Amino acid sequence: MKALVLSGGTGSRLRPITHTAAKQLVPVANKPVLFYGIESLVEAGITEIGIVVGDTAAEIEEAVGDGSRFGARVTYLRQEQPLGLAHAVLIARDWLGDDDFVMYLGDNFIVGGIAGPVAGFRRDRPDAAILLTKVADPALFGVAELGPDGRVVSLEEKPAHPRSDLALVGVYLFTPAVHEAVRAIRPSARGELEITDALQWLIDRGHALHASTVTGYWKDTGNVIDMLEVNRSVLEGVDGRVEGAVDADSELVGRVRVEEGAEIVRSRIVGPAVIGAGTVVRDAYIGPSTSVAEDCVIDSSEVEFSIVLTGSHIDRAGRIEGSLIGRTVHVTGAPRAPRAHRLVLGDHSSVHLTS
Ligand code: DAU
Repeated sequence: MKALVLSGGTGSRLRPITHTAAKQLVPVANKPVLFYGIESLVEAGITEIGIVVGDTAAEIEEAVGDGSRFGARVTYLRQEQPLGLAHAVLIARDWLGDDDFVMYLGDNFIVGGIAGPVAGFRRDRPDAAILLTKVADPALFGVAELGPDGRVVSLEEKPAHPRSDLALVGVYLFTPAVHEAVRAIRPSARGELEITDALQWLIDRGHALHASTVTGYWKDTGNVIDMLEVNRSVLEGVDGRVEGAVDADSELVGRVRVEEGAEIVRSRIVGPAVIGAGTVVRDAYIGPSTSVAEDCVIDSSEVEFSIVLTGSHIDRAGRIEGSLIGRTVHVTGAPRAPRAHRLVLGDHSSVHLTS
């Protein structure tokens, strides 16, 4: 069995964090979301992985490499334009051959991995299988309607009036039967070859489609609270480990990971938390459920239940909570300045000022 991991796309759907970088590389507990996907495939016994890439190919290839550090063999498949999930299957036809495969959307995160669904598919071998999860906002997803016997009756991509709250999770299991389906369908109103249409084509022709339900699912929908929450839940599982330097005036409480080259000076860190490689935390407090990425400086500030991405500086900023700080951002307090805010904010930023 092979895996087709979709990491193409143009990044045109702007999110706070992904308008300058591939959304599959959004970090959760300092690790790109795509890496969790690859690890879960390897854990399910699938090591032959084709990654579909588009405009952000260079970034993805640099991050993942040849896959050997995951124990996988990665082949890159170039998709010139993001013409849809079913289009990605079309262009991967030769590489896939006649093998069964898992199609995994690179921006999806499934707590607990996919070993269970993959084992079920190998055992029962229906023509295709999908995973569903209940969501609060089904109009943002593909939505499945189930019949009274639990079988999938219809699938609709981002419906204005969803028929259920069961969203398609970005993991699909296929036999080669899907190839005929993706060749048969036509582009949707939004101009994409939809995998939901290919699945509907299979259902309509009497092919067996299994659906199972998962919990613990997340994808980047631009909702910061959801992202902080998935970060929090992954941090619950981190091991405390100090590879950097912690001075005698600092205190680490609970599970705190201090990565290589990080320096903790006269500071207190209460875990679960991760401090990325090369980051300096000085005269500061870092509270639970916080990830600080590589090469940041947190000086004379307090940061709790937050994500700080690579290369950002937070200096005399008072207390920061429930925040998502992008890459190379500078947050500086100006205690002696007049009562005015001086802001340099990127597109789509959102800032809450309390005074
Ligand atoms: O995440 C689950 C949802 O993913 C499903 O509920 C939907 O049915 C499914 O269509 C998909 O919707 P999205 O709008 O989230 O898809 P998105 O365009 O974000 O693409 C998902 C991943 O696939 C992302 O990593 C980019 C990649 N991709 C996408 C397209 C359209 C490609 O590699 N090539 C493409 O042509």
